[in-house]
Formats: sequence, C-alpha cells, structure tokens
Amino acid sequence: MWTTAVLREEHRWILRMLACLERVGVESERHGRLDAENAAELMALFARFADGLHQDREERCLFPRLLARARSVEERLQVARLSGEHEQERRAMARMNGELLGAIFGETRSLRDFQGEAHRYVQLQRGHILYENQALLPLAELLLTREDDETVMQGFVSLEHEGPVKLRRIFERIGALCSRLRVDPAETA
Ligand SMILES: [Fe+2]
Ligand SMILES: [Fe+2]
Repeated sequence: MWTTAVLREEHRWILRMLACLERVGVESERHGRLDAENAAELMALFARFADGLHQDREERCLFPRLLARARSVEERLQVARLSGEHEQERRAMARMNGELLGAIFGETRSLRDFQGEAHRYVQLQRGHILYENQALLPLAELLLTREDDETVMQGFVSLEHEGPVKLRRIFERIGALCSRLRVDPAETA
C-alpha cells in the first residue's frame, strides 16, 4: 500500500534524527554546551518534517480515513491515542525550543532542561513510531481500500506542495547530520 510505505520510510528517517538528537545530548554533556549548528538543524527538521509534514500526513489524511473505516470503538481509540501522542510530542518540542538558545550559550539550567526534554522526546517518539509500525499501519493495510489508498496518497502529495522544501532534500539533510555526528543510519531502524 502506497500510503503505509511512505509513512514507514519516513519513520526510518525520524529514527535516524532521534539517534542524532541523542548524540547531540551526549556530546553536550562532555562540552558543557549545546552544539549550535547541529542542534538548530535538528530542531528545524523535527519541527517542519517529523512534527510537521509527517504528522500532518497522518492527522489530516490517514487518520480521518481510518476512523471512517474503523469497525469498533477499540479501533477508533487506537487512532485517537496517536493524535494525543502527537500533541505530547509538540509540547515536548516547544519546551526544547524554549531552552535551545540558553543551552547553546552554555547556561547550566537551560542545558540540563534541554537534555532532560530531549531524552523524554526521544523515548516518546520511539514508542510512538513502534506502535504505529506494529499496530496502526497494519490496521490501515487491513481496513483501507485501494481507492482509500489513492485518496490518502493524493492528500500526501498536496501537503508536500504546501511546503517549500522537497522531501528528497530533507532526507539529504538528515543524512548529512548522521555523517557529521557519526551516527550509522543502518543501526537506527
Ligand atoms: Fe504519528
Ligand atoms: Fe508516524
């Protein structure tokens, strides 16, 4: 199914970003401040790609179609749970952004809070992706018809047209972060 293939591929890239965020956190403990270039690049990519385009694809295109096809309250609750987790992720991201400049400057409290929030965000996102890969996407593959898949895919394409940066370019930027931070992309999936 097209739509689940797109989301699974994006999950692989988000897992690489999470490994990069962990690496930035570990290095910041050694240096007593946050690596400005890599941290700011990661925050921008999380905000616009992971919590941006990717979650928009799920919330605006996939979830409504899946809710319409759900056969029980339990299946509807599975989808609702994921929307709730997206909210939690956005709040964690906002808290990290609130500490970003202080942490880059080397303020002890901001750095410590950024490291704590980053750790929580990584755990939250990894659990979320695991659940989507193991429960949500198989459910979509079971319930959605071929026409649903085409409709959701059209929605995905129109969301990409709203953004200024092409997806391929985003993946290249994540790949560049992985090489700068010595994160092996093959070990993150
Ligand atoms: Fe999600
Ligand atoms: Fe997802």
